[in-house]
Amino acid sequence: MAKLLGGIGSSHVPAIGNAIEQNLQQDPYWQPFFTGYEPVWEWLEAKKPDVAILVYNDHGLNFFLDKMPTFAIGAAAEYQNSDEGWGLKPLEPFPGHPPLSWHLINSLVNDEFDITSCQEMLVDHGFTVPMSLMWPNRILTEQIKVIPVCVNVVQSPFPTANRCLRLGEAIGRAIESYEEDLDVVILGTGGLSHQLDGERAGFTNRAFDTEFLEKLAKEPEWLLQYNNHQLAELAGPQGVEMIMWLIMRGALGENVKELSRNYHIPISNTAAGVILLEKTA
Ligand code: DHB
Ligand code: FE
Repeated sequence: MAKLLGGIGSSHVPAIGNAIEQNLQQDPYWQPFFTGYEPVWEWLEAKKPDVAILVYNDHGLNFFLDKMPTFAIGAAAEYQNSDEGWGLKPLEPFPGHPPLSWHLINSLVNDEFDITSCQEMLVDHGFTVPMSLMWPNRILTEQIKVIPVCVNVVQSPFPTANRCLRLGEAIGRAIESYEEDLDVVILGTGGLSHQLDGERAGFTNRAFDTEFLEKLAKEPEWLLQYNNHQLAELAGPQGVEMIMWLIMRGALGENVKELSRNYHIPISNTAAGVILLEKTA
């Protein structure tokens, strides 16, 4: 049977991709950020998952404002990246796992989540930056298979935080009911607080992010007290991306151990966070 090992929450700021490309990990600006990933790299190296389910939002490369599914899941044999204007070099395609993708899509639709299935899907920085962060030597070392789970946090109305947590729980059940022996990891990406435009551009909220990180392992329902308008006030309109971390958290079920966490302001305009959660029992 497939087994979910754990989950990782991570920001996806495009500038991170350029810093990796230029080997700036030890640069004084970047060092406090990249250091936070060391426990994650060690854990991934020890666990060697076969498949990564990556929960992220597309920022206009694959879906645009004219057609915006709330939840879309990739079911392709590979996922191409493309130039989206941040100066990021397009990466080699990411290999998919169509049988597990279709199992997830079937299970989730049976569980009454309305999923858009995508047999072709371009992946943008929301996907590629966390992949480059987790597996900096992906091509050289291992060919981890990926399943993109794309969430609309770009054009209102967004799914509620509660819907995201419940979707995560359903993803967790779907993984555990897949017959092939596969080790799976799930990533929730985006956030933490940031606002890219308008009068409050550059806004971050350390107190709010810290409480979110503090509560994520043991009390993820804490975030559900806020609707998405309140979240945009508290974390910035782009900070709402953090509801995707709840999908990752929901998939892990009740028993979760926090193994590491890091928080650093600013990376570009964003309060950057990373957390590593292991599924226990
Ligand atoms: C930045 C952050 C994002 O989440 C994003 O999608 C694009 C840019 C930033 O801080 O530069
Ligand atoms: Fe973003």
